[in-house]
Amino acid sequence: MLSIIIPTFNERENVEIISARISETLSDMPYEIFFVDDSIDDTPEYLERTAQADKHVKYIHRTVRGNLATAVVLGFKECSGDLITVMDADLQHPPELLLDMMKAMEAEEGVDIVIPSRFIPGGDDGGLKGFRKFASWFARVTGQIILSDLRKTTDPTGGFFMFRKSVIEGVELKPIGWKILIEILVRGHYNKIREVPYAFQIREHGESKFSFKEQINYGLHLLRLLKDSPKDRRFILFLLVGGLGFIIDIVGYYLLLNFVFTGDTISAAGLSLSAPAVCAAISAVISMLCNFVLNSVLTWGDRKQGNRAVGLIKYTIVSLIGIMIQAGTVFGLFNVLGIDKYIAKIIGVILGSIWNYIVNNKWTFKDQE
Ligand code: GDD
Ligand code: MN
Repeated sequence: MLSIIIPTFNERENVEIISARISETLSDMPYEIFFVDDSIDDTPEYLERTAQADKHVKYIHRTVRGNLATAVVLGFKECSGDLITVMDADLQHPPELLLDMMKAMEAEEGVDIVIPSRFIPGGDDGGLKGFRKFASWFARVTGQIILSDLRKTTDPTGGFFMFRKSVIEGVELKPIGWKILIEILVRGHYNKIREVPYAFQIREHGESKFSFKEQINYGLHLLRLLKDSPKDRRFILFLLVGGLGFIIDIVGYYLLLNFVFTGDTISAAGLSLSAPAVCAAISAVISMLCNFVLNSVLTWGDRKQGNRAVGLIKYTIVSLIGIMIQAGTVFGLFNVLGIDKYIAKIIGVILGSIWNYIVNNKWTFKDQE
């Protein structure tokens, strides 16, 4: 059976229309509509009337005001379907799409989540304008940078999705704010995700309850999921340590040049060396040592590590190869393909960092049982 969870806050005009459109769409298929209502107007009366007229319709009205996230999670607990959909009451999510979603769910083995997407061919986010459109894009991209699970779909921040109840069985959901789907994508257990294109509609009745506070909540929600997601946390820490290493390198270079080797040349063992070259090398080594310590304590601090000296040697080897990858990339892009030298360097840094991360993760800081 399909359970359709619909959170409502002051949606009196929409309750009856959406129930009717779902009924037309699903006709004699087994389903229930579960409204979770926090309204402070007379929406509950409309809900009662609709539930009387249509046996598929159930509702809970909460008198202690909760929020959208707790409403949806309450719906998950109370509903009885093995297939669950969440959608908005205001018809911005077209009910007719439910059929496509169910079809996608059954089309192949192992599909556990189906997400209607505004951002694949055939999709359209027409209902969003101006700043909302930008904010929505920014929120989506930020989420996908921070949390790898959000990269599994093109539309992780919409409020419309379908999943098998098994995805959240035994999982404690603790969403903050509005984006329940990201909570499910990060904490749920699932195999395949499929998308179907859809056009986000314009709201005709009532008004949006979206507010600035929800953007802040979204940021907090991302941070909480990051804290609970070891694989994502590791990569972010690695990037932070790398950024800090860059600063240490530059500051160290400046200090050495201005306070230690103040001349243009350094004479040692009868040789005359360039002071900037020596300072660059020393600051690079200091920065690498700091990075090694921070990465072994923070980034991979949860792993059991053997001899630190061996670790440092491995780390140095990985770093040297990383530098060679950088140099090779710059050579290939600039000298061979004629691409701008700064762009070549940036791409080199990205490739070198990916190399460093992967090999350090699998080799240097591998868990030593
Ligand atoms: N129970 C309950 N409690 N329901 C609520 C509450 C609440 O505190 N606040 C809002 N709702 C309900 C609304 O009644 C509506 O059915 C649904 O949640 C979405 O609210 P809207 O006010 O229509 O949101 P929106 O259209 O601005 O945003 C929608 O589209 C976005 C796509 O960019 C939502 O689906 C967002 O989650 C989505 O990101
Ligand atoms: Mn809406």
